[in-house]
Amino acid sequence: MDDQHGILMDAINELRLALVHGSGQEQISKLLDEYIEFTRMHFWSEEQLMEQTGFAGLEAHRVEHHRLLADLLQTAHRLQYGEGIELRAFLCNLHRNLLHHVETIDQQYGPWLREHGVV
Ligand SMILES: [Fe+2]
Ligand SMILES: [Fe+2]
Repeated sequence: MDDQHGILMDAINELRLALVHGSGQEQISKLLDEYIEFTRMHFWSEEQLMEQTGFAGLEAHRVEHHRLLADLLQTAHRLQYGEGIELRAFLCNLHRNLLHHVETIDQQYGPWLREHGVV
């Protein structure tokens, strides 16, 4: 799971670089879509592990994943339809939200999974 978190962080950096280098909206949309797809896969993997081991905090965690994804999808949608988005601010937020999720919410299941021999 930590490898996947690393990949998510790298993907945000890639988006930041694309922005700094003045990439067009199409390129940014493409990167954002890839990021969303990976996020979806990562969230699904986490939820599977929690479900398999009967982790009590699963539902609350799932709600948090949904909230993050809905936010991402809304932004991707707005970007696609050419709505002016302050992308720099959006990426800062995305980075902060992801860090918060990984460092607080995800930490709650780490010890549980280790106890159950998963990671
Ligand atoms: Fe995670
Ligand atoms: Fe998570």
